Order: sequence, then structure tokens, then C-alpha cells
Amino acid sequence: MSEAVNPRTGTGTGTEAAAGAAAGVTVRVPAKVNVQLAVGGARPDGFHDLANVFLAVSLYDEVTATPAAALTVTCEGPDADKVPLDRTNLAARAAELLAARHGIAPDVHLHIAKDIPVAGGMAGGSADGAGALLACDALWGLDSSREELLEICAELGSDVPFSLVGGAALGVGRGERLTELPVGGAFHWVFAVADGGLSTPAVYGEFDRLNEGMTVPGPVASPVLLDALRTGDATALAGALANDLQPAALSLRPSLAATLAAGTDAGALAALVSGSGPTTAFLVKDAESAESVAAALVASGTCRTARVATSPAAGATLLG
Ligand code: C5P
Repeated sequence: MSEAVNPRTGTGTGTEAAAGAAAGVTVRVPAKVNVQLAVGGARPDGFHDLANVFLAVSLYDEVTATPAAALTVTCEGPDADKVPLDRTNLAARAAELLAARHGIAPDVHLHIAKDIPVAGGMAGGSADGAGALLACDALWGLDSSREELLEICAELGSDVPFSLVGGAALGVGRGERLTELPVGGAFHWVFAVADGGLSTPAVYGEFDRLNEGMTVPGPVASPVLLDALRTGDATALAGALANDLQPAALSLRPSLAATLAAGTDAGALAALVSGSGPTTAFLVKDAESAESVAAALVASGTCRTARVATSPAAGATLLG
């Protein structure tokens, strides 16, 4: 008989849990901010063509895979109650897809230590998918190639390949076809976490509604922005930040305008909605400014909490 697992901590109390912990593989995966999210018109398949410049930031989830009698998911962290623990969780789907490719059973316990805001536009769910994939690949000794892993990531979701790769990258197509980008220095960020999430399909739907009857130009990456990343120039990057989903996110969540204003009033170089939101991102000049902008955002009462981070951050990394 197997021992009960606490869904918040993912641990049991007896020797079985101790043995499982010893055999586990843990992967650390970063959140992302889109420094440019250029969105084209809706495609026949319902997706949108993108020029999506991803930058990984130093907020991380950790996914631990341990052998188990069946596929189970547990989660701990401040927002753990908002994370689905069933087969809709991208971590579970990653284990299933990888196992199916190799004709094995996806018998694994996946424990997610969640620090990335949930449904916040920072690719937390995608991070867990990429993390679970790498962890299961190591646990099961499959030694999949990078190309195979990226293929499964793209099947899981548009942002999942970037969670594996990290650093900075331009994503085209629906965002899954990546070209890695050079970054010439560290950038400092503050992220204001909103109450509640926003549904990504709902934000794209609102984008379509706001652009109805208009010709949406094909998405193109900004050369000025790519140059700012390459040279590590925060002031130039601040001037080039752009998110085509921002009007849609603001339309669905008008209160985000006050959060954006609170951050710029407090001295941020620039502010924008992160991906489909509702997390808002503030580029600041250094670590000291990050602390003061974060404190001002919390004091403004326009967000639930504020987190400080730097970029670029490494992609999914095996911790052992
Ligand atoms: O690929 P992913 O499952 O993350 O996409 C979630 C939803 O976001 C899609 O169902 C679609 O509504 C929207 N989306 C889009 N165009 C993209 C990426 C996502 O319309 N390039």
C-alpha cells in the first residue's frame, strides 16, 4: 500500500518518502518577460503569428520527479492552491508525452515548488512543463536530444520551448520557433503581482476584438530593441519595450493602468504588462532602484506584492 502524499509539500512521513526523495531529480526553471511582443492577425488555426522577444528572469519554479506507482502532481508555494494537480497541468502532460514517445508508463510523482506567479503572464505553467520534461528525461535515463525535447515543448505550448532554453530568444511562428539572442549585460526588474490571473486565450480574444476591421501588420522584431539587448543598455531597452497585448490586458483589467503609473512615478525606466498579464514589469537602472520601486509599488496598494529579479537567467537546469 502506498503512503499518503501531502499535496502542498509533496512529501510523506515514512521511509518510502525518504527513499523517493533520494531517487528524485530536480530541475530549476525560470520565469520570462516579453521585452517585445509583436502580434499579427489571427491565423486560421486560431493562433497569432508573433515576433516574441523572450527574456528569462531570476524567478524560478523547481520541479522534482521521483519514481511512483502512477502519475501524480503536487505543488507547494504561496499560490499552490491555484495550480491544477490533474492532467491539465503542463508538467503532467510533459511526462505523458515523453513516456508515450518511448512506449513506457508515465509513472512518476512530480512535485512543483512554485515561486513564479500563477496565470500571471510570466510562463509559470510553461516553466513547469519544461522542468518536468527535463526531470523525467533524466529520471528515466532517456538521454533525449535537445531537438527532441524542443519538439515536445512546442507540442505542450507556445512558450514552453523558451522555458527550456532560457537566456534571451526571438520566438516566431506562434512563438515556439526560437533563435537565441546575445545579451550584453544584466538588466534589473521589478514585477508587480496582481490579484487573480488573466486567461491567455481571453487576452488574445480581446486583442482580436480591439483590432476588428483593421489590418494588423505582420509582426517584426525591433532592431533597436535587439541592439539594446546585445549591448546591455537599459536606457535604450526601456525606450524600445513594446507589448501589443497590453491594450487588451488593460481593457480586461483597467486597474493595471494605476500599477503601471505607480512604478514609473517611483522611478522605473519603463513599465509594461508582462505577456498576457496581469503581472506588470518595470525595468529599473540597478538593484538599489529595484528595491525602492518594489517598496513604492507595494505602498501604492495597486498590486498584491512586488518581486525583484535580474535577467538574463539560465533555462531549465538539472540540480541533481
Ligand atoms: O500555446 P499556448 O497553449 O500557450 O496558447 C494558449 C492560447 O493563447 C491559445 O489557445 C491561443 O488562444 C493563444 N495564443 C495565440 N497565439 C499565439 C500563442 C497563444 O492566439 N501565438
